[in-house]
Amino acid sequence: MKRIGMLTSGGDCQALNAAMRGVVKCLSCSGEKVEIYGFLDGYRGLIYGNYRMLSGEDFSGILTKGGTILGTSRTPFKLIRQPDENGIDKVEAMKKNYNKLKLDCIVILGGNGTHKTANLLREEGLNVVTLPKTIDNDLWGTDMTFGFQSAVDIATDAIDCIHTTAASHGRVFIVEVMGHKVGWLTLNAGMAGGADIILIPEIPYDIDKVIEAIEARDKRGCRFTILAVAEGAISKEDAKLSKKEYKEKLKKSPYPSVSYEVAAKIQEKTGREVRVTVPGHTQRGGSPCPYDRVFASRLGSEAGKLILKGEYGFMVGYRNREIVKVPLEEVAGKLKMVSPDATIVKEAKMLGISFGD
Ligand code: F6P
Repeated sequence: MKRIGMLTSGGDCQALNAAMRGVVKCLSCSGEKVEIYGFLDGYRGLIYGNYRMLSGEDFSGILTKGGTILGTSRTPFKLIRQPDENGIDKVEAMKKNYNKLKLDCIVILGGNGTHKTANLLREEGLNVVTLPKTIDNDLWGTDMTFGFQSAVDIATDAIDCIHTTAASHGRVFIVEVMGHKVGWLTLNAGMAGGADIILIPEIPYDIDKVIEAIEARDKRGCRFTILAVAEGAISKEDAKLSKKEYKEKLKKSPYPSVSYEVAAKIQEKTGREVRVTVPGHTQRGGSPCPYDRVFASRLGSEAGKLILKGEYGFMVGYRNREIVKVPLEEVAGKLKMVSPDATIVKEAKMLGISFGD
């Protein structure tokens, strides 16, 4: 008999439910008797002992359902060692609840911050298996995270919809894409949606080069230009600032986000009409795409296999088209960024896409 804890932490994404279902299906199909304890709202549930015992029925019909049946929240890693407002030691509280329930292991689904805490719990002696979720695809140790492909579909749809109206009006349009500090989502949705200019954090842009690209299109007789701009895109000047200076600059900025700043500069320097569209959290919403359903189910079932073998301390990831187990200490605290020299970037440039560099 195995007693398994489970939680989803950080921003949600598509296919969290599919992944949890995969774990539970694998365990129950093995014939092993299992008890599943679902902690509510991420690490918060583990800290404060908020959990629900889950049955097979809870996992039925959720393959296609977005969000997470357990709820989620952000518990910043940098605050994890600090007592809460009532003086509760969060790490000790998590260990206590884990031990109180006599868990064999805890399955943690999350992105970067979540993995730092998962690794800390491993160091503190808990048996942990993790699954890589995030629309940002920025988790180290895996080529792909679930949620990413679904978000690419949604961001691409947004760019597709902009295409027709951009063509009618002959305007410059900016679609701001999520992705936090990395450009995977913007790069992929931008290419899929046929964006003319793609701005990502890893390749700081020069606004004059962006304008050059727009004007070159004008000269070729193109009526419109579409930019896919990552929410974390940064100009060459700003990239020279220290983290602190850049934060200060953002605080004082009159623009709600980088896209509005880029728009204002284009408008000011060219007199062209520019519009900004921000699909925002829609990119994390709705049903997982078929790819993510399959991918998350595969990762989930492999996590189930590790649990059955009693192999803990791993993230189940995907490398070179193989499902692999990656030691948590290798994953925690690292960001997987787009390399400016990546083949896909070179290929995009060969297609005539400008990165504003
Ligand atoms: O990490 C996923 C993500 O959607 C990022 O792309 C985005 O920057 C962030 O979460 C938004 O966070 P929140 O939901 O807390 O506003």
